[in-house]
Amino acid sequence: MNILAFESSCDETAAAVVQDGRQVLSDAIASQADMHAIYGGVVPEIASRKHVEVIAALTDQALAQAGIAKPDIDAVAVTYGPGLIGALLVGVNFAKSVACALGKPLIPVHHLRGHIAANYIAFPSLEPPFLALCISGGNSMLVDVRGYTDMSILGATRDDAAGECFDKIARVLGLPYPGGRPMQELARGGDDAKYPLPRAKMAGNDLDMSFSGLKTAAVNLIHNAQQKGEALDRSSLAASVAAAVSGELVPRAMLAAERCGHHTVVAAGGVAANERIRADLERACRERGLRLFLPPLKLCGDNGAMIGCQAYYEYLAGARADSSLNAYATLEI
Ligand code: KG4
Repeated sequence: MNILAFESSCDETAAAVVQDGRQVLSDAIASQADMHAIYGGVVPEIASRKHVEVIAALTDQALAQAGIAKPDIDAVAVTYGPGLIGALLVGVNFAKSVACALGKPLIPVHHLRGHIAANYIAFPSLEPPFLALCISGGNSMLVDVRGYTDMSILGATRDDAAGECFDKIARVLGLPYPGGRPMQELARGGDDAKYPLPRAKMAGNDLDMSFSGLKTAAVNLIHNAQQKGEALDRSSLAASVAAAVSGELVPRAMLAAERCGHHTVVAAGGVAANERIRADLERACRERGLRLFLPPLKLCGDNGAMIGCQAYYEYLAGARADSSLNAYATLEI
């Protein structure tokens, strides 16, 4: 079964063709990151306009790369939330038109379910159940994945997402957007214990997380040093931030896996590319005898292949959308 999948929830437009869930025939991506970098973050209206400009050409590219013609497409899939509403609407409306023109079913896909599914592409043996740590620019959550389409949130950030925390501190340090990767490079060789940063203690659900206190503390540290004319060890600050973010995520992921009785842990989303978090997850899982799946770097960020993969399982479970499909800025997993 060939699924033509679209992703446009933030600043990447993507179109992919995926066969039978796990065989990626093509994965065309147009990133707008350079354009938003001038503003230090994603400008929603610019994102929507860029999606409009490139989505048709990307579709042609994805079909050509896959070596298949339009009649060979069996279904069309699209991310319908969560994300930037104007950006999502471009993909949703385009996918509806393609499905209608080809007379094929339309499959709605949750963006974070897609991020989790990126692991099915990379690891053919991976199957639910498992614990997923979903960490991206807009979301941070622990998900109990009982089946391909049966999952629930165990805990989530109550304020900023992990990626947002990296991006905002990077901006104050004068690093380019998106800041996660430049922060990682800056952190190399830094002392991760030099700047103690606050850790969040959550009342209520102890699997919930918080990154805003940590972000504010790091930003205040930078501003104080600037105001007093003191030298800032930027590399150690970046290393301390990575250690603090990882310290929020990894112990909670271990606790969540233990509570659910899962022996497998899966990471997903753009922040899953972070080498400190990956190393801490590897160590923690090794100590507990858990199997760990870390997506390859190119499948951590937004892409269309992950949407095509998840769409296959949604299709098998009976998910179909009609021409009234809408986009949602927030959406339950
Ligand atoms: O999953 P993604 O591509 O987009 C969303 O769905 O949000 O994630 C983007 C986020 C950005 O905040 C970016 O700074 C972060 O992932 N990121 C990283 C790294 N690479 C990307 N954060 C930390 N370390 C990295 N190496």
